[in-house]
Amino acid sequence: MSQYTQTPGTHIAHVICDLRSDTVTRPDAAMRAAMAAADVGDDVYGEDPTVNRLEQSLAERAGKDAGLFLPSGTQSNFVAMLAHCGRGEEVFTGRDYHVYKYEAGGASALGGIVMDPLAVAADGSLMAEDVTAAIKDDDSHHPISRLLSLENTHNGKAVSLARLDACLAAARSAGLSTHLDGARVFNAVAALGCDLAAVAGRFDTLSICLSKGLGAPVGSVLVGPEDLIARARRWRKMVGGGMRQAGVLAAAGLYALDHNVARLAEDHRRAEALADGLRELGAGAVEQNSNMVFFAPDGGANAALGQSLAQDGVVISAGGSGAIRFVLHKDVTDEGLSAALAGIARHYASV
Ligand SMILES: Cc1ncc(COP(=O)(O)O)c(C=O)c1O
Repeated sequence: MSQYTQTPGTHIAHVICDLRSDTVTRPDAAMRAAMAAADVGDDVYGEDPTVNRLEQSLAERAGKDAGLFLPSGTQSNFVAMLAHCGRGEEVFTGRDYHVYKYEAGGASALGGIVMDPLAVAADGSLMAEDVTAAIKDDDSHHPISRLLSLENTHNGKAVSLARLDACLAAARSAGLSTHLDGARVFNAVAALGCDLAAVAGRFDTLSICLSKGLGAPVGSVLVGPEDLIARARRWRKMVGGGMRQAGVLAAAGLYALDHNVARLAEDHRRAEALADGLRELGAGAVEQNSNMVFFAPDGGANAALGQSLAQDGVVISAGGSGAIRFVLHKDVTDEGLSAALAGIARHYASV
């Protein structure tokens, strides 16, 4: 069972705290008001002023020429790969990265793109020497090596600029283009203490999700150079991602950029508090990275913890036998966190 599998038994009457993912955030009243008030037009005609504003403002913030609003992070990564690569061309990425492991193989199944997955290092980065070793000679036996696709954050780990640079240098020296799956790039930026442009400027294209920690209900924006974004726009149409009066959705993204970026530090702080509480219990190994905490209970009693917390109104993804992933986000308050910590302590006091 993967961390994305619906946890059985989560039909809880009163959820006090949902720690499964930052994708569970719901638009609050102020965000909904911004959506209701959005000025809209037909975005496939390029006439939705709110979508245009969102694309331009994220492109500017990232220091890129252009942006493209898409329904999901998966579609954003997919059209980015299609824009960079032709059939029989190859993407290097991490074996545990989302584009390889959790996007249903779309780039290969639908795009004819070959994925060469590389080992992910302990800090969430790839090893530059692995990238160099994986790049193929120009020989008709091989796919054509075309793109390096990295991820930041990966499992909450903010990969340092130096580590990104080492991999990017290896890719560029062989003429590859570069893409970043920055579903949670604002968490990376908060953890690294840099600005978005410092990360984005290192890559040709960057995909940013609005529907994770930023709290919008839907949407991602792909930013990059004019020609690549124009190609991605054509691919978006082809895969059915051209939306019409999408300004109601883009308004949520604009609201999120104005109100929910700076507060990500709060999620990181609560993740630290949760990790500290778990460590004090001494019931298993604990690791915390940005807004995520991984907890591997001694004896692997994941399901029992999940069931016990469900009775307290605390929802977790307890499936499987690996570490349990707790994700902090905008809809987890200090009260919710206290309820989770109290529930975990009660569970371990009773076993
Ligand atoms: C690292 C990463 N990339 C991409 C995505 C895909 O986003 P979406 O669910 O909007 O397709 C996710 C989703 O959780 C993710 O965690």
